[in-house]
Amino acid sequence: MICRYSFGTPLPTDAVVRKLPAETGALPFFGLQENGDGSLTFSLSLHPEEVIFGLGQMVRGIDKRGHRYESWNSDVFNHTESVSSLYGSHNFVVFFSPERLLGLYLDDPGRVVWDLGYEHRDQAVITSLSGNLDVYLIRENTLAGIAKAFRQLTGRSYLPPRWAFGYIQSRWGYASEEELRSVISAHRERHIPLDAVCMDIDYMVDFKNFTWKPDAFPDLKQFQQKLKEDHIRLVPIIDAGIKVEEGYGPYDSGEAGDCFCKKEDGSNFVAAVWPGRCCFPDFLREDVRRWFGDLYRPLLEAGIEGFWNDMNEPALFYSDEGVADAFAAADRIRSGGVDYETTWWLKDVFSGIANNMDDYRRFYHLVDGKPVRHDLVHNLYGAGMTRATAEGFRRFDPDHRLLLFSRSSFIGAHRNGGIWQGDNFSWWSHLKMALQMLPNLNLCGFLFTGCDLGGFGCNVTEDLLERFLQLGVFTPLMRNHSALHTRDQEIYRFDTWELMRDTVSVRYALLPWLYSEFMKAALRDEMLFRPLAFEYPDDKRAVHTQDQLLLGDGCMIAPVYEQNASGRFVYLPEDMLMIRFRSAHDYDLVPMEKGSHWIDLSLAEFPLFVKKNRAVFLCPGGESSELLDDTRFTVIGQLEIPGTYDLYRDDGTSVSPDLESNLTHIRLVPDNALKREIQC
Ligand code: GLC
Repeated sequence: MICRYSFGTPLPTDAVVRKLPAETGALPFFGLQENGDGSLTFSLSLHPEEVIFGLGQMVRGIDKRGHRYESWNSDVFNHTESVSSLYGSHNFVVFFSPERLLGLYLDDPGRVVWDLGYEHRDQAVITSLSGNLDVYLIRENTLAGIAKAFRQLTGRSYLPPRWAFGYIQSRWGYASEEELRSVISAHRERHIPLDAVCMDIDYMVDFKNFTWKPDAFPDLKQFQQKLKEDHIRLVPIIDAGIKVEEGYGPYDSGEAGDCFCKKEDGSNFVAAVWPGRCCFPDFLREDVRRWFGDLYRPLLEAGIEGFWNDMNEPALFYSDEGVADAFAAADRIRSGGVDYETTWWLKDVFSGIANNMDDYRRFYHLVDGKPVRHDLVHNLYGAGMTRATAEGFRRFDPDHRLLLFSRSSFIGAHRNGGIWQGDNFSWWSHLKMALQMLPNLNLCGFLFTGCDLGGFGCNVTEDLLERFLQLGVFTPLMRNHSALHTRDQEIYRFDTWELMRDTVSVRYALLPWLYSEFMKAALRDEMLFRPLAFEYPDDKRAVHTQDQLLLGDGCMIAPVYEQNASGRFVYLPEDMLMIRFRSAHDYDLVPMEKGSHWIDLSLAEFPLFVKKNRAVFLCPGGESSELLDDTRFTVIGQLEIPGTYDLYRDDGTSVSPDLESNLTHIRLVPDNALKREIQC
């Protein structure tokens, strides 16, 4: 059951697809306080054993209790535990204790502060700064029921094309056809599976969106066509800002259509991003989305089938006004002499030029024809860009699914695209964080996601990359991406590349099964990754587990995320079969009993656990998702009672796939084997 309570004058967000009448009674469960400055606070006493799932893309554990978070889409390069916001705002949480099961969703495009037991461990105190919002309470009998009800409120998750489940190689710095070709052949020569390569900003002319360097990419269409013969797709990046430059098509047409966000005086708001001074499309307007979505056409016409949208919080490196304010601050202390406090302050003033709150208050959107200051709708910006792109794709090619993943997001954007987890580092702690983010992103509707495998910032080590890949085997988006000037991070750069190749080969063997699990989850409004509490709500140990996840129908993952670890402890909430993978053909099958276990996992090994009477399907190998044979499988599982597995298969691109007609019901017959070969 879902109830909506409305406060103030909520702005449209496009987050929900089911319009519910607002309740007239008071909001139950929560204390409500008006703070006198327009902000509203909702508070709830927490049970000592209460866990809180949700908030999607956020630092820290699967259970969010015990810290303070903020919904404020941020370009944060340093995801330490102390940051309170990342790139997306996902205002949905589920409170779960022996006494309560309650979903809370705040449809609020502005800043929201979530104190989930930080100030007082027994209190959740949630503040909407604007006080204009819709609050939804969801009550169901199970955690999965709440997740499903929320998805039915906010709409079906985005469906990527099937090839997007292949391995993707990316790096900031690939600057020409030649360079991309050599990266691709280095994979192919070593039989490292690969489906796509990303093109970062270096493919553009002066980092200008929708351009490509004529010398480096003399015939993009032909290049993409040739690569497709080898089953490889190009995935270019598009940023939010449009460079201010007369004679540059997107700027001129944006100006002609009056598409950019304005300052109070009616002039365009200008701030610098990669190309220098940029204007920012007002994605909240339908006509602007249409204009922007159509800008992808030349790339789509060149045969491109996937994009990643970036810098769409929006990230602002500096504005003229912000720089002037910082210089003025320096002038103020210039004559008075400096001490450590003033120099530290000055350092903060200058480092605070980027993504500055004053800038976010300097510009306006038009909402229903009326100007609304950006900070009040800040968290919608990336979602608006995703929507513009997805709508553009649908106009260009209504019959096929294209790949789209964004950095910034808001609930509602999960219908139009996936997201990646942003600029992580080559840190062991970020491997764990990536794992912990998955179920909360799924809960908020973002199923197609993954982190930059190997880590984006700083220098990776080969053991860390291998362990990242072992997590990536299971994440729908499996992309190795790294920053300019960091150590080369392609698999083939390392002495142990064969081991990493074998890990990627497991992904390809599992791909039809993983795709089947993903598509069933998406089409049934379910989650692919779930906290253990979803299936073992009465098992205290399972409920509080922070480093294992349920995957699909009857599986569990428990990756190694610590340096030099030769294994890890795993908690099995019931008897399971462990598949200890080394490659697609080399694995151990170990039946294990409910309870705690130390599991040896050398660097080459990673486990997948399968419940009794469930099965995992491995298909014969291939170096591209298009070359996999999804009619012959090795089926792994401990089968004790007769059952079926519903294998979902489709053409991989159709826009409205029908779940039922795409299912093959495969009979699982009890036998004494742990694996068997089938054809279907
Ligand atoms: C941002 C993106 C990153 C990209 C870089 C250059 O930092 O998050 O993925 O490589 O910009 O475009």
